[in-house]
Amino acid sequence: MTKKELVASTAAKAGISKTAAKRVVDATTTIISEQLYQDNKITLKDFGTFSLRQRPLRRVRNPQNQKMITIPSARIPVFKPGKRLKETIKSTGDRGGSAMTGGKNKEPVANPKSRPPKVIAVTSGKGGTGKTNFIINTAIALAQRGQKIYLIDADLGTANVDVLLGLNCKHTINSLVEDKNMDLMDIIVDGPEGIRLLPGGSGLQSLAELPKEELTRIIGMFKPLEEHADVIMIDTGSGISRNVVEFALAADEIVVVITPEPHSLSDAYAIIKVLSNNELQPPIRLVFNLVENITEARMVSSRLTDVTERFLQLTPETIGHILKDDNVVKSVKQLRPFVLYNPLAPASRCVVSIAEKLIPLPEGEKPAAREEKKGFLGKLKTLFSSA
Ligand SMILES: Nc1ncnc2c1ncn2[C@@H]1O[C@H](COP(=O)(O)OP(=O)(O)O)[C@@H](O)[C@H]1O
Ligand SMILES: [Mg+2]
Repeated sequence: MTKKELVASTAAKAGISKTAAKRVVDATTTIISEQLYQDNKITLKDFGTFSLRQRPLRRVRNPQNQKMITIPSARIPVFKPGKRLKETIKSTGDRGGSAMTGGKNKEPVANPKSRPPKVIAVTSGKGGTGKTNFIINTAIALAQRGQKIYLIDADLGTANVDVLLGLNCKHTINSLVEDKNMDLMDIIVDGPEGIRLLPGGSGLQSLAELPKEELTRIIGMFKPLEEHADVIMIDTGSGISRNVVEFALAADEIVVVITPEPHSLSDAYAIIKVLSNNELQPPIRLVFNLVENITEARMVSSRLTDVTERFLQLTPETIGHILKDDNVVKSVKQLRPFVLYNPLAPASRCVVSIAEKLIPLPEGEKPAAREEKKGFLGKLKTLFSSA
């Protein structure tokens, strides 16, 4: 394996950019060299031990001319593999070739995540219902419970997840199309509490226009996301445009964010109707935002589900409400998510309780149910290819 491959592999496994991975690899090799220079052993449990061995002065015969020569004594670095590494080498050898044994398969050997991430698309019938705030704050609440969360900003109209997180994104998915040297981790930016953002923006639209091989190349780059994320949340934007609907249909679950105003309810009904016309339709769940109290939340929830039951024979589950709260407005002005700005704010408590319903601990929904389904990448490929 070359250093370049090591960096690429580290980036993919750790879910970091190649630039960051190169810094890690460089720092690690420098530390190991420095420690060896100072005669210190470095033991990485299970992996192995690096140390220096004193090789004594030797007199040997030069095989070419048979003359005796002297090889001076020297300190040479040695590596003694640990138990787990030995076992890995042995078992991969038994399987007949891998990256570690020189086979063609360059996939990293060790434990990729066994379960694909849960993909949640967040949408609404009309703009301004609080989708982006809901996504960001729910993502942080989930991250605080130990989940690895990736956000995809797929709102072509008002892509502002980065702005609300106070982040500065240099690139979008478009950069992957324009610059072949870039990979997904180069455009992903780190947000608070370990959440990560993939800025989509207008770049997403251009995916549908790409030639097939190029699309396959780009979608292939999303693999680290499938390997590292526990949950991928997509801000689809609002309305019944193709982009919104396609992203929603590629998800495992759709959350529709609705406010109590009559036109928000009727627009929510319209998007639920469009989604329910499709046989791929994942389960739809409802969140009522900007409600005055729980009574209002229950009232609007039953008003909407009465209509969906009657006309669409569909009863989407309401997973919670978010109270109208001045803390939200203040936090937006400060570009700080409200669950961090004021964790005890009424809106923050509401979001935490929704996060618990969305991904119940300890293990979320039954893994088998999702493993059988076509993965997110597969669905994206199908959706964009048929565009
Ligand atoms: N629970 C809430 N309480 C008070 N204001 C809210 C609440 N949710 C959203 N808002 C207001 O609505 C605005 C729009 O929210 P945003 O998340 O950007 O909506 P969307 O992404 O659906 O367009 C926010 O800037 C904030 O001022
Ligand atoms: Mg938004």
